[in-house]
Amino acid sequence: MKQDILQAKFVQEMMKTTANLYRLGWDERNGGNISYLITEEQIEPFLNVQEVKRIVPMSFDASPLAGKYFIVTGSGKYFKNVSDDPAGNLGIIRIAEDGKSYELLWGFEDGGVATSELPTHLMNHIQRLQVDDQHRVIIHCHATHLIAMTFTHRLDAVALTKTLWEMCTECIVVFPDGVEVIPWMVPGTDDIGRATAEKMKNVRLVLWPHHGIFGAGTTMDDTFGLIETAEKAAQVYTIVCAQGGKKQTIKDKELKELADAFGVTPRPGVLKR
Ligand code: 13P
Ligand code: ZN
Repeated sequence: MKQDILQAKFVQEMMKTTANLYRLGWDERNGGNISYLITEEQIEPFLNVQEVKRIVPMSFDASPLAGKYFIVTGSGKYFKNVSDDPAGNLGIIRIAEDGKSYELLWGFEDGGVATSELPTHLMNHIQRLQVDDQHRVIIHCHATHLIAMTFTHRLDAVALTKTLWEMCTECIVVFPDGVEVIPWMVPGTDDIGRATAEKMKNVRLVLWPHHGIFGAGTTMDDTFGLIETAEKAAQVYTIVCAQGGKKQTIKDKELKELADAFGVTPRPGVLKR
């Protein structure tokens, strides 16, 4: 007898995170998407993994993830509705052996499919797993102040990283690897997935100008917290600009002291010697 999947920790985490992202105003309408790498052992108490409900083709090769399971948000689904109807808005998928399709094991009950940003999510998972075997989660959201910043700030990874580090003392500790940024591109495509994943080699935060942000992490809390911290810094930046701009800030020497105190290595090339 299988247990009720709605009680599974990974389903509960998806419900709570989507609700929080909505509450914070970072996922209006169907904005945003999440994918969470889970193991067969985590799923088995709840589902018969031999029972495939549907097979959905993909436009790119995800074979490095063949046989891996993800719980993902659906395309066109509203984060505000996930906790009231998890089985309609979420899906558990397994990447097929040839990497060219996914098998739906649970969810998307009204015939839905995984997020349109699945290429970026899966390409990011492939990239992050190469550099961190503990990597599990990708979150995309439309974080308000980070989007706003992409209109007023220079779209340069080093300059953006420096500005965000200066805005809150915790930033350099939470993302010592900094942030990256890609040019504006059409979302939902394999091309934007490749461009984002290329940046994910060295960082866990990639800005999409005038659109939103992608974050990567080892747990849901870790990934959510990462985006939350960057967004808070962007909010402070917005307020600082509205108040007339910086009159003083955390100096490079102080940022280095901070990194030393917390045992993190700041991304090279951001702080002056
Ligand atoms: P989906 O509804 O397909 O997940 O798309 C939302 C989004 O944010 C696109 O970038
Ligand atoms: Zn988006």
